[in-house]
Amino acid sequence: MAAAEASASILRLAQVDPLAVGHLRKVYQHPLEPDFVVKVMREDAVEARWGAGGRWYKKLVRARQYAGYVRELKEYIAAQARFAAGNAPIARMVGLAETDLGLGLVSEKVRAADGSLAPTLAARYGREGGFSADLERDLAQFLDGLLACNVIVGDMHAWNIVHGVDSRGGPRFVLIDGFGEKHVLPRSSMSRRLNAWNTRKLFRRMREQLVRLVPLETETSSSTGG
Ligand SMILES: Nc1ncnc2c1ncn2[C@@H]1O[C@H](COP(=O)(O)OP(=O)(O)OP(=O)(O)O)[C@@H](O)[C@H]1O
Ligand SMILES: [Mg+2]
Repeated sequence: MAAAEASASILRLAQVDPLAVGHLRKVYQHPLEPDFVVKVMREDAVEARWGAGGRWYKKLVRARQYAGYVRELKEYIAAQARFAAGNAPIARMVGLAETDLGLGLVSEKVRAADGSLAPTLAARYGREGGFSADLERDLAQFLDGLLACNVIVGDMHAWNIVHGVDSRGGPRFVLIDGFGEKHVLPRSSMSRRLNAWNTRKLFRRMREQLVRLVPLETETSSSTGG
C-alpha cells in the first residue's frame, strides 16, 4: 500500500510528448493542473555537463543539475519579498514535483489566447517582420518591469521571453527562464545599479542576437539583411 501511495504522488511524464524542449530541459503539461507546466532536466544535457565528462567544478555545486531550479525559485521569492506589488515579469514559480523523469520544477504556464503555450519573442519578431511598433512598445514595458523589480537576469535570449497571459495579468512579455544570480561573487545582488546596467546590457545583446538569428517571415529569399 505504501508503494502504491508513493507511486501515486509521482507525476508520470515519460510516456507523454513535451510541449516544448530547451537546451537543458523538457517542458510538460502538468498532468493535474491545466495552468501549470512541469520542467525536467534533459538526460543528455545532464550527462554532458554533470556526468563523467563534465567540468569538475560543476559537480561541486551541491544542487548539481538542479542548481537552476534553486536559482529561479530564489529569484522569484526575492521578487515576492521585495516587490510583491510590482508584478515582476518573470514566470510564477509554483514549486517542485517528483516525476518519473526526475525532480521537476513547476511553474505557471504563460498562455496564448487559446490556452496553448505563449509564443516566444523570437516567434513574434519573425512573424511581425522585425521590431514592429507594437513589439517595441511591449519590449519597453518588459524592460521597465525587470528594472522596476530589480530582477537579476543571468541568461536573456529571445526564446526565454514569451508573450501571453497568466493569473497575474497580461498579455505582456514574461521571462520564463534564465533569471537569478549566477555568479559566485553575487555582484548583481549587491548593487541595484550594477544589476540595472547588466540587465540593459543583456537586453541589448539579446536584441542583436535576435536580428542575427531569426529570419523575418515577410522577407524574400533575396533579402539583404538588416
Ligand atoms: N512558464 C512557461 N510558459 C510558457 N512557455 C514556457 C514556459 N516555460 C517554458 N516555456 C517554453 O518552453 C521552452 C523551453 O523552456 P526553458 O527555456 O525553461 O528550457 P531550457 O532548456 O532551460 O532553455 P535554454 O535552452 O534557454 O537552456 C521556452 O523556450 C518556452 O517556449
Ligand atoms: Mg530557456
